[in-house]
Amino acid sequence: MQVGRYDVAIIGAGAAGMMCAAVAGQRGRRVVLIEHAHRVGEKIRISGGGRCNFTNVHAGPQHYLSREPQFARDVLRAYSPRDFMALVKLHRIGFHEKHKGQLFCDDSSQRIIDMLRAECAQGRVQWMQPCGVRHVEPTGAGFRLGTDHGVLLARRVVVATGGLPVPKIGASDYGLRLARQFGLQVVPPQPALVPLTFATEHWQPFAGLAGVAGEVKVSCGAQSFDEDLLFTHRGLSGPAILQISSFWTPGDSLRIDLAPGHDLGRLLRQAKTQSRQSLLNVLAQWMPRRLAQVWVEAQGLPGDRRLAEVADAKLTALGATLAAWSVRPSGTEGWRKAEVMRGGVDTAELHPLTLEARRVPGLHFIGEVVDVTGWLGGYNFQWAWASGHAAGMAV
Ligand code: FDA
Repeated sequence: MQVGRYDVAIIGAGAAGMMCAAVAGQRGRRVVLIEHAHRVGEKIRISGGGRCNFTNVHAGPQHYLSREPQFARDVLRAYSPRDFMALVKLHRIGFHEKHKGQLFCDDSSQRIIDMLRAECAQGRVQWMQPCGVRHVEPTGAGFRLGTDHGVLLARRVVVATGGLPVPKIGASDYGLRLARQFGLQVVPPQPALVPLTFATEHWQPFAGLAGVAGEVKVSCGAQSFDEDLLFTHRGLSGPAILQISSFWTPGDSLRIDLAPGHDLGRLLRQAKTQSRQSLLNVLAQWMPRRLAQVWVEAQGLPGDRRLAEVADAKLTALGATLAAWSVRPSGTEGWRKAEVMRGGVDTAELHPLTLEARRVPGLHFIGEVVDVTGWLGGYNFQWAWASGHAAGMAV
């Protein structure tokens, strides 16, 4: 059964797909938006603790990982965080800056979903939902899509199926399979912005610290982040670890400064003359007390002894271990806990302004399914909006 003929068929009604549909529809294109899940924009809804960190005012190509580090530059320049902020203001959605340029809704992420739906309605976008896509074939004049609702024809197809994280809310590898079907290269997908885990026997001394958090500087190779770290039962999480996880590959060690900005060896030696307190009480001024306790015990130091009684050399060594904790994760918490996918459709296959496949005219890939992965902090949504906008303007 043929169910329609369209200028553009967009597969996936998430952040990028809805943005693309709205832009193309408002340019007068006949657009159908196909979504297989029962609810649209689920990742928007659950993002930012329910308040959606929808962009970052500082977003630039340096905040993205990709085989081609500059690939995102043109698309990000053509649709900036300011452009998305203007849209949010137009819809009278209150927002605030939380931390390092991260913008969040004042009330609920649902406002962003409602905004995108309203923009789609303005572009007379037709919805097919819930509806799975079974196959996409080229026809010469466009594409034939076999869907759960019947066959439809479209001059252009935009693939906006997102990444693999959180399969229970609709994530699928369909976009990657479609890319391979058309002979396009895919950079192997990996979980990113994800907590890291450790072998049980290595983690045993720290397992009791689950819930302890503090600011650290974490490094992997040449990349480092100053953010909060959180101990979990199985390993490490928190913004510092999520950020560095995108740069970590199995076998790499992380270097963690547990009291960044402080030369603890020197501070402890200085404090000897001024303080009658125990080593532990003094150390707890600069780091979480439970962590200080485990650390001092692991070093075989008497935490309850007066600081003045501990030898200078021991304090210097203690400061050095706290500034350069070296740990080797055994793995990640995987797709269930990852916020994004690293890898995806190889950017070398795509035109950097239109996201159209160079070798398959009329086929576009946008959002997380593309090998462009943002840092934590609103960068991934900004890529979704900007790439959706770019394709919406091109189709
Ligand atoms: P997205 O996943 O939004 O949409 C893809 C859509 O395609 C989904 O609706 C899916 O159901 C549908 N689909 C998949 N396969 C299909 C098929 N075969 N047929 C039809 N439909 C199909 N980013 C950020 O910048 N700020 C933040 O605060 C957060 N917070 C956050 C929290 C959590 C828990 C997660 C998991 C992720 C985030 N992110 C984030 C990342 C952000 O959500 C993500 O990068 C964007 O949603 C990607 O937008 P896309 O449109 O590419 O995919």
